[in-house]
Amino acid sequence: MGIQITPSVLNADLADLTNEVNRIKGADWVHIDVMDNHFVPNLTLGLPVVESLAKSTPLPMDAHLMIQDPDRWAPAYAEAGCGSVTFHVEAAAAPVRLAREIRAQGARASMALKPATPIEPYEDLLAELDMILIMTVEPGFGGQKFLDLCLPKIRRARALMERHGLETWLQVDGGVSLETIERCAEAGADVFVAGSAVYSAEDPDAMVAELRARAEG
Ligand code: DX5
Ligand code: ZN
Repeated sequence: MGIQITPSVLNADLADLTNEVNRIKGADWVHIDVMDNHFVPNLTLGLPVVESLAKSTPLPMDAHLMIQDPDRWAPAYAEAGCGSVTFHVEAAAAPVRLAREIRAQGARASMALKPATPIEPYEDLLAELDMILIMTVEPGFGGQKFLDLCLPKIRRARALMERHGLETWLQVDGGVSLETIERCAEAGADVFVAGSAVYSAEDPDAMVAELRARAEG
């Protein structure tokens, strides 16, 4: 599939989402951060907003659910029109069943790991997933500093996928910028979330192109 860039609208103008998404026409996806004030100490938006946005944007939606009880809520995001739905393994009661339910709704199923969560216990689950999201900040807020300590986990995740002959996508999220994206790509990531780097740029679409060029090396 190659390199993909999925800007996060968390730090965009949330009162003007449709126009903000129109400023990143060259992106592959739009990354939507759903937070519930329980799994993370922040509250953003939920299903009704995602349903509306799915109708108003031509970009496929990449939903990142930072919520408790994803087993109950995640399939509805696939039904709402998200092309990819990511749940956190730390919050999921039955990740295999949940991944299958998301896929049954026609979306790509993805599982996220916080910085302190190891990948190794989930080796046997990789075949059930279309993407692994390795968080490179503690989830909850945009604009945080990239955690270099997560790089070895990206390498180990890529090695596990290769060992099993899987084409699972490997997404990184948190502090991704022109300064850090090469390190992530070199470690094996191929899908890059960038929030503040894209939306603090004067021309967000040009930043998407620059990030892509940097990741492609
Ligand atoms: C943080 C979110 C990220 C956030 C990234 O918990 O999951 O998607 O928007 O923002 P930056 O790129 O600014 O770290
Ligand atoms: Zn995110």
